[in-house]
Amino acid sequence: MAVSTSLLSVASLTADDIWRFVRDAAILKQETNSGSLSGKAVALLFEKPSLRTRVSFEVAIRRLGGYAVYLSPTEVGLGRREEIPDVARTLSRYVDAIIARTFTHRTVELLAGYARIPVINGLSDREHPCQALGDMLTIYEKKGKLNGLRLAFIGDGNNVARSLLLATSLLGMDFCIASPAQYGLDEESLELARGFASKSSARISIVLDPRRAVENADIVYTDVWTSMGQEAEADERRSAFASYQLNADLLALASKDVLFMHPLPAHHGEEVTADLLDHPRSVVFDQAENRLHIQKAILARALGGSTT
Ligand code: CP
Ligand code: NVA
Repeated sequence: MAVSTSLLSVASLTADDIWRFVRDAAILKQETNSGSLSGKAVALLFEKPSLRTRVSFEVAIRRLGGYAVYLSPTEVGLGRREEIPDVARTLSRYVDAIIARTFTHRTVELLAGYARIPVINGLSDREHPCQALGDMLTIYEKKGKLNGLRLAFIGDGNNVARSLLLATSLLGMDFCIASPAQYGLDEESLELARGFASKSSARISIVLDPRRAVENADIVYTDVWTSMGQEAEADERRSAFASYQLNADLLALASKDVLFMHPLPAHHGEEVTADLLDHPRSVVFDQAENRLHIQKAILARALGGSTT
């Protein structure tokens, strides 16, 4: 039985939903503690490593009065030691929600399909919704608005890019991606986003030249060239993306009050020069912090508690 408060994809949200998360998170950011998860247990079921997602969720759960049970990549053996539907049905008897970080998106869908409790996507190969929602909070804090801005994404058409594409097109923020030809976003996601953009008036564009993408950009965003699970392709990707590195010269072509964003972890000297993390326009550690606050809002909604 799927639960409507699961969060697998940004595509399941409306612009109003995103605004509600951003506003709730801004309120929760001012509070050190809240009892909205009082006595609730949340499982963190991770097939891949994590720093930010694990720590920010564990701290968020604790600050809301609940407690986390972390299940490491080696512990459960999702789909190997035990079938995914059986894991979902068993965890539903113990805990109140599952945060899942998985290799394939199909795994989070199966978990949500069989669980009796909300399932939140803590990153799959397809999407990273908690990252995109946290990023909307960061952009709103820095710019005071979301619609009418222009976000340029330089690099791989990956999980982070896809969730940002969907969030921006729902909210009326222009999205331009510059990727090497064979590493762009898939047509299905672009079509879905174009549907959202036709209602929000967002413009979506795809270019090959990163310099064109960053022109007049309010936000310049990049992510790793090789995502978790793609390690065997690392050499091939390093060659394909060589001219897509984000450095201070490229950033200088954007709007003068541009925000530089990256979800982290960053591969210094690959997609980004190390100096950029400390650039005056960098907000990468604000992004990392805001994962905590947006996830408090996501958990409060998923588990039915009030945010304030
Ligand atoms: N940005 C992010 O999700 O970081 P982790 O992989 O460390 O969780
Ligand atoms: N695209 C990266 C994001 C990490 C937060 C990955 O999937 O590894």
